[in-house]
Amino acid sequence: MTAPQQETTEADDADDAARSADSADSADSIDFDPFDPAYRADPYPYYRRLRDRSPVHRTPLGHWLLTRHEDCTAVLRHPGFGHGTGQVLDQNTFRRPVRGRARPFILLDPPEHTRLRSLVNKAFTPRRVARLEPRVREIVDGMLDDLIDAGEVDFIDAFAYRLPVSVISEMLGVPAADRDAVRELSTLVARGVDPDFQLSKEQLENRDRAFAEFDEYFRGLLAERRARPSDDLISALVQAGDGAERLTEPELLTTCILLYVAGHETTMDLLGNGLLALLRHPAELRRFGADVDGLAESAVEEFLRYDPPTQLSRRTALADAEIGGRRIAAGEQVVIMRGAANRDPAVFADPDRLDIGRPDNRHLAFDGGIHYCLGAPLARLEGRVAFGAVVRRAPRMEPAFTELRYRDNLIIRGLAELPVRLRS
Ligand code: HEM
Repeated sequence: MTAPQQETTEADDADDAARSADSADSADSIDFDPFDPAYRADPYPYYRRLRDRSPVHRTPLGHWLLTRHEDCTAVLRHPGFGHGTGQVLDQNTFRRPVRGRARPFILLDPPEHTRLRSLVNKAFTPRRVARLEPRVREIVDGMLDDLIDAGEVDFIDAFAYRLPVSVISEMLGVPAADRDAVRELSTLVARGVDPDFQLSKEQLENRDRAFAEFDEYFRGLLAERRARPSDDLISALVQAGDGAERLTEPELLTTCILLYVAGHETTMDLLGNGLLALLRHPAELRRFGADVDGLAESAVEEFLRYDPPTQLSRRTALADAEIGGRRIAAGEQVVIMRGAANRDPAVFADPDRLDIGRPDNRHLAFDGGIHYCLGAPLARLEGRVAFGAVVRRAPRMEPAFTELRYRDNLIIRGLAELPVRLRS
């Protein structure tokens, strides 16, 4: 990859030095291959190596990989980085636009992002989330009644998937009878979150079909709620704003899908990855059990830091910028490696240690800029209630696996299954 033409300065010399260090320390010798099965099983040694050797690393494909907390935060907060809709041609090696559909606001820049997010905020309020707590407890307790002392169970299917999907479905107003059909669509959309180049033709077609069927499904639900509003989130989204400042039909459709998919695929992995961390750290499990109420909140934050459900996010440089002493040219793509930033020793003491009481946990699992996760209060609530109940009711839980299998997804990190015995 050639550097853009520029005048020579001291900073450029440093840049060139780093660049030649990079080419000497090429992608091969850095040994970073996100498609390697060993990376999927445990990406953290790869992240450490990358951060130590080339923290602002340019891949042979021309993407910049950021592994330091400081650099990731700088990009997330930088108005000169975004999704590249408008100012700069989106050099879309990552995702081709789906014709005729509104872009979800997670992929928009200001001012479109600001307008949509503030409309959705009017419906997705902290009050609406807090009000759910008794119902979340009820769902958790009901599910655990069937799982505690039931022998070997798959925690992902029997609990980690079911809790968030029930909660977001009830919140949005998706009837219980429709959930299995919607589950299948959601899985196809979540698989399609990965860059297009990583997906087969069939996976791309499935994703497009899932979007079309999702649209049709939510179109029907929106029409019902317009005719007969209830107190669910879909009704609130329809009514959010006034006059001209309302969500249009295409915006409502993509927002419903975004909330539905984002609302459970990631929370499922918070629950799965978090339980796995506890199973692998029996001393932390005992510590948690001895003070469930005191530790539930910080334990959830630590699970999010230690093994975050969303590992990577992409941004495009909307103008030339400098990050971590490297010059990034307008139009170039930057990858925020959240899993790496969350283990940066410059920010987290003893970063590879699971410490469920970790103070001042500034992880990036929910982002750190204008796209900060809208559903973070809901995910935290579900995590706190779920782990609290599981640890209290199954203090002698034990693994029932010898090997683990991760779902085939680069961006979202989560287990395909987690066999466990939840012993009281
Ligand atoms: C543990 C669970 C969750 C994790 C780890 C997570 C993570 C994230 C991350 C990293 C982003 C920013 C993505 C980016 O900037 O590229 C994000 C945005 C978002 N999340 Fe979550 N999320 C979780 C749960 C939820 C839930 C429960 C909901 C909704 C019910 C939700 C809805 C959203 C939405 C709507 C955005 C877009 C915000 C914006 O663009 O302004 N998420 N989430």
